[in-house]
Amino acid sequence: MRAASMATLALLLLAGCGTTTRKPPIEIFPDMDRQPRYNALAESPFFPDGRASRMPVPGTVAVGQLREDDSYYTGISGNLYLGRNPRPLDAALLARGRTQFEVYCAPCHDRAGDGRGIVSTRAGWLAVNLHEERVVQMTDGELFNVATFGRRTMPGYRFQIPADDRWAIVAYIRALQRTTQGTLVDVPPELRKGVR
Ligand code: HEC
Repeated sequence: MRAASMATLALLLLAGCGTTTRKPPIEIFPDMDRQPRYNALAESPFFPDGRASRMPVPGTVAVGQLREDDSYYTGISGNLYLGRNPRPLDAALLARGRTQFEVYCAPCHDRAGDGRGIVSTRAGWLAVNLHEERVVQMTDGELFNVATFGRRTMPGYRFQIPADDRWAIVAYIRALQRTTQGTLVDVPPELRKGVR
């Protein structure tokens, strides 16, 4: 009896080999081959808009992404550019601003900020000189806004550079501007004698 059933099983298994068919295979264990669910972004006749994926409920905020303070992310409060950098100024902020400026802005504006970066000079146009009186007169919020959304031919960097770092860059640009806009008042009294 046992030998007979073994032989039948062997035959059954062999029967599966070497034949081609267009019919679907016999499924002994269907497992979860077919499931009553949708693939992401598939079509669905169930919802009126025909999409299986649903839009997030308006106002949905991802964890850690709450942006309560709009001005921190745009540099604009009401109708005005923020006057001052909202991040407290310290050496760490300037150091961060420097590395980020040199990564993201220096290719065009140059590490010195004069607008003669490697991209600009090779491309044959000049980015704005950040030591220009007009740029020096901008508020911190306006600089931040330009870095965020761009202006005219300058691209915005809000997707590449997080807001915290854009504010650090603004702080660093202020430090850069000091290098050409500084006066004797910026020099500590004990060092003034050596300045010409
Ligand atoms: C791809 C090259 C490029 C990069 C990178 C770049 N800029 Fe610019 N930027 C420009 C150009 C070009 C202009 C002049 C735009 C115009 O007047 O059409 C400009 C102008 C500006 C201005 C002056 C805007 C005005 O009103 O004239 C500021 C401020 C500025 N950029 C800041 C930044 C900062 C901060 C970064 C880094 C986050 C940065 N830029 C990165 C090309 C660049």
